[in-house]
Amino acid sequence: MTIGIIGAGSVGGTLGTGWAGKGHSVLFGVRDPSASSVKELLGRAGASAKAGSATDAAACDVVVLATPWDATQSAIQSAGDLKGKVLLDCTNPLLPDLSGMAIGTTTSGGEKVSEWAPGTRVVKVFNTTGFGNMANPIYGTDRNTMLYCGDDSSAKQTAAELAGDLGFDPVDAGPLTQARLLEPLALLWITLALKQGLGLNIAFKLMHR
Ligand SMILES: NC(=O)c1ccc[n+]([C@@H]2O[C@H](COP(=O)([O-])OP(=O)(O)OC[C@H]3O[C@@H](n4cnc5c(N)ncnc54)[C@H](OP(=O)(O)O)[C@@H]3O)[C@@H](O)[C@H]2O)c1
Repeated sequence: MTIGIIGAGSVGGTLGTGWAGKGHSVLFGVRDPSASSVKELLGRAGASAKAGSATDAAACDVVVLATPWDATQSAIQSAGDLKGKVLLDCTNPLLPDLSGMAIGTTTSGGEKVSEWAPGTRVVKVFNTTGFGNMANPIYGTDRNTMLYCGDDSSAKQTAAELAGDLGFDPVDAGPLTQARLLEPLALLWITLALKQGLGLNIAFKLMHR
């Protein structure tokens, strides 16, 4: 599978490195492919990864959005035609001081992304944990649960497979409107990690019996 990643920072870089290590072809869609940070990332990610533009990323089978919330709409615009694409949205619309959600709780970033990229099959995923867990979601004999939501079942299947490739336990949380719950859950993870002092090596696990 070819995976185009728009935003090659903490989240995009970690996801892309993980997938490249699992044999996927990864293209980081970046504003400056010659930047030293991009060269370092490509060195870490290995031969299955390369860098190009956002439109190059948009030509891949699956497109991943890993941009700061306030840059997300312009990043989508810079990607050009995304119609029909599986679009994995990792963003979180958080207020800069982490006091709440930048767009309230009666819509979600996932739904906004779907409006900004009409005709795409958006899945909200990889937003409810820190990027360190994206590099290693294994906790002893447990795996970090990766909740995802969206309105297209085959796109959700793709998201689940890509989460599983990284070692997550993927769990379908329902339609895209459920992003209204998954995005505040990200804020809870951040609050526990940073404000409550639990640190970055924490992860949510859904239990079954
Ligand atoms: N950090 C986490 O643990 C974590 C976990 C889950 C979800 N998230 C969410 O994931 C998203 C990315 O977070 P991050 O921590 O990876 O951020 P980051 O490290 O700051 O990386 C953001 C990336 O987006 C790029 N970018 C900025 N503006 C852009 C634009 N207009 N067009 C294209 N690319 C642009 C930046 O490129 P330049 O280098 O060119 O500026 C950078 O590569 C955020 O929405 C965040 O809330 C973060």
